[in-house]
Amino acid sequence: MDMLTIQGGTPLRGTVRVEGAKNAALPIMAACLVVRGQVQLAQVPDLVDVATMTQLLQSLGCVINRTKTQTATIDADSANRSFADYELVRRMRASICVLGPLLARFGKAQVSLPGGCNIGHRPIDLHLKGLAALGADLRIENGYVVATATRLRGADVELGGPSGSTVTGTCNVMVAAALAKGRTTIRSAACEPEVVDLGNFLNAAGAQISGLGTSVVEISGVESLQGVTHTILPDRIEAATFAIAAAATRGNILIPNARTEDLTSVIDALRVMGVRIVSSSAGLEVSCHSELQPVDIVAMPYPGIPTDTQAQFMACLCTVQGVSKVRDAVFPDRFMHAAELLRMGANLQRHGDLTVVHGGQRLTGASVMASDLRASAALVIAGLAATDQTTVRRIYHLDRGYARLEEKLTALGAPVSRVPDSSNTADVQPPHFKLQKRSERTIL
Ligand code: UD1
Repeated sequence: MDMLTIQGGTPLRGTVRVEGAKNAALPIMAACLVVRGQVQLAQVPDLVDVATMTQLLQSLGCVINRTKTQTATIDADSANRSFADYELVRRMRASICVLGPLLARFGKAQVSLPGGCNIGHRPIDLHLKGLAALGADLRIENGYVVATATRLRGADVELGGPSGSTVTGTCNVMVAAALAKGRTTIRSAACEPEVVDLGNFLNAAGAQISGLGTSVVEISGVESLQGVTHTILPDRIEAATFAIAAAATRGNILIPNARTEDLTSVIDALRVMGVRIVSSSAGLEVSCHSELQPVDIVAMPYPGIPTDTQAQFMACLCTVQGVSKVRDAVFPDRFMHAAELLRMGANLQRHGDLTVVHGGQRLTGASVMASDLRASAALVIAGLAATDQTTVRRIYHLDRGYARLEEKLTALGAPVSRVPDSSNTADVQPPHFKLQKRSERTIL
């Protein structure tokens, strides 16, 4: 296993391009199961999660070729299995994205329940409710979702839950409804740009989907979908991560392929902090010219601040003099990074789904452990801003969602390297990683 060593204190400077969005690539790859003929995907990011989805689709009988130029061709004509094994699904929750496509393709699916997760309770009841509304018969058996349907039929589907809509649940229902008989209306649909990208992909393949990017998505079922070429949209979470890292180090970077329209809430929060953001044909420029101000952050469904940037914001706010408040309305327990930030000298107090950041003291380098993908990014940002050296262990989480992060940061002037971790504690989960109950008032 590898770890990252970061020599902190250097402002990031230069130009960095982001990859295709992981959260669009995964459901789009899964949706290839319902397309006849070859699909060619461009800007497929080189990530562990994409490799896992590739393996999962291959285990179902798909033929997949990847080139070094981030292109993947997927041919699902030979797919002949509807069973998604626990051994693959447990590695990545987004494996659940094959449920809707398998059901639409074979009229049956057996997909392992994804299981527990470090960022909190993540049920799939809304996925099941949506597919049941389309006529599927679903039950849980031996840790698997077992689904059957003689013919999926269009229906009125409500996907709102206690924390808003569901992103991958909307993807599952959208793909199944694209081939169902008749018309489907998804209400409280997720509006995330990655859901829109999936819808655009399906439409290019022959689906009839409208209302993408709004909370009401209308789908007229078609008989079949045909092979198509599609370019995955740029990753807004990776772009936000670099922008926040630039702010945390008081740097100046340009992200030429960031889509400003997908990042409005992140840009707004950074501007309130006093970060200068200029969007032009050259890309998104992020720079710091004055002392930064504290800000209150609430992570919400799109177009709100993404929960996938909440940890990175918290790390950055530790460097800003004053009191900031960070709340996560999507995953209220998603504060595993806070315990590690404390080890770097942060002053944080947790009250349920709210963490209060008393920022301004200089973070100091430490040996820290990543607990999930975005928590890892937060620790890297803290390490970039800290004095001395930081070591981030268990970086396999980072490799799930960031391609060549150490190379990109090094190109921006930060001394970051990937080295083998010989420590025998690398895979041991320390006690403070245990989830706090939401109701508990906890001082970290
Ligand atoms: C997706 C993203 C993930 C992001 C999350 C929220 C992918 C591959 N992953 O995950 O990076 O952090 O959206 O933006 O796109 N919920 C239910 N019942 C369900 C499903 C979800 O109550 O059946 C709840 C969840 O507990 C959570 C909220 O709804 O509170 C949002 O979850 P959801 O949008 O489903 O997250 P994912 O699609 O798993």
